[in-house]
Amino acid sequence: SAEELDRRIRAAKAELGDRAVVLGHFYQRDEVIQYADHVGDSFQLATAATARTEAEAIIFCGVHFMAETADLLSGPDQAVILPNLAAGCSMADMADIDQVEECWEQLMEVYGGETPGVDGRMPVIPVTYMNSSADIKGFVGRHGGIVCTSSNASTVLEWAFERGQRVLFFPDQHLGRNTAKAMGISLDEMPMWNPGRPLGGNDEQTLHDAKVVLWHGFCSVHKRFTTAQIDTARAEHPGVRVIVHPECPMPVVDAADESGSTDYIRRAIEGAAEPTTFAIGTEINLVQRLAAQHPQHTIFCLDPVVCPCSTMYRIHPGYLAWALESLLDGEVINRISVGEDVAEPARAALERMLAAKP
Ligand code: 13P
Ligand code: SF4
Repeated sequence: SAEELDRRIRAAKAELGDRAVVLGHFYQRDEVIQYADHVGDSFQLATAATARTEAEAIIFCGVHFMAETADLLSGPDQAVILPNLAAGCSMADMADIDQVEECWEQLMEVYGGETPGVDGRMPVIPVTYMNSSADIKGFVGRHGGIVCTSSNASTVLEWAFERGQRVLFFPDQHLGRNTAKAMGISLDEMPMWNPGRPLGGNDEQTLHDAKVVLWHGFCSVHKRFTTAQIDTARAEHPGVRVIVHPECPMPVVDAADESGSTDYIRRAIEGAAEPTTFAIGTEINLVQRLAAQHPQHTIFCLDPVVCPCSTMYRIHPGYLAWALESLLDGEVINRISVGEDVAEPARAALERMLAAKP
């Protein structure tokens, strides 16, 4: 029963003390979040994994790429545990290493290889969204590239344009497009790469003129948001403040009042002095939690049909109990461990992100 699980989790956590730290992404359900020592967006949780060096185990209530990142940034003797190994991210799976390598080869043919131009900049710098596998981060690291999250994408793109004439951005086309557009890059300068076709279906000139080459990935949760939902919210709630995640399609971000990472959304609501109506375009567990925490505001999800991230939802308290109790028995279950050949360049790409300052 839920009470029994609650008792087991609390008992195991108390007995483990500082030996284990539980991290919870904002999209986790409340039944899991209640046990998290740190709750945050993907950037904050990545840094939490590095700061808590004393814990021997980091139990990551989130999705696979987040646990891999925690493994990359934590100490060699710390085990990162993903309570349910089936908690992946469909967007991260959309950038397959073979496809990315094929794309890179074709771009290199068009751009004449990895040689700096007269201005000292490389023809293209690869940038991967945090929501990608360690293999992809390793690829990026080996080619002078960098990782970004939704909270630092424009800072990272600026970093990349100091070093490259163009950016290859993956996996999320929407974050790439929204961020590049906000930097003044026109849609004509952002061709999309489609795997399996020569030059992604683009002509050479288009790729030459590109500033950002986009990848076809998207988030199945955030692509559900529409401008019609925003129109309805504005009609029904005059004065509503519409805030969406930058994984939403460009017309939705353009129609919203603001866009930002999950922690940006949290801060925007916390910072509102007057009672306000907020329509939010992001995952439902976060929206419902914010609504419960801020009864002085009216907070609702733009999508009237509940939209959880189905893979985040795969972390159930039962798995957390199993992970904690196994640790007490001296057993590490579901350890996420990135092989050293990939880890070294992947870490380099992450460290460039951590060092890139706005
Ligand atoms: P944040 O970086 O905003 O936490 O987003 C992570 C994510 O998976 C959004 O879909
Ligand atoms: Fe992946 Fe979207 Fe779920 Fe985030 S919300 S973990 S991007 S599927």
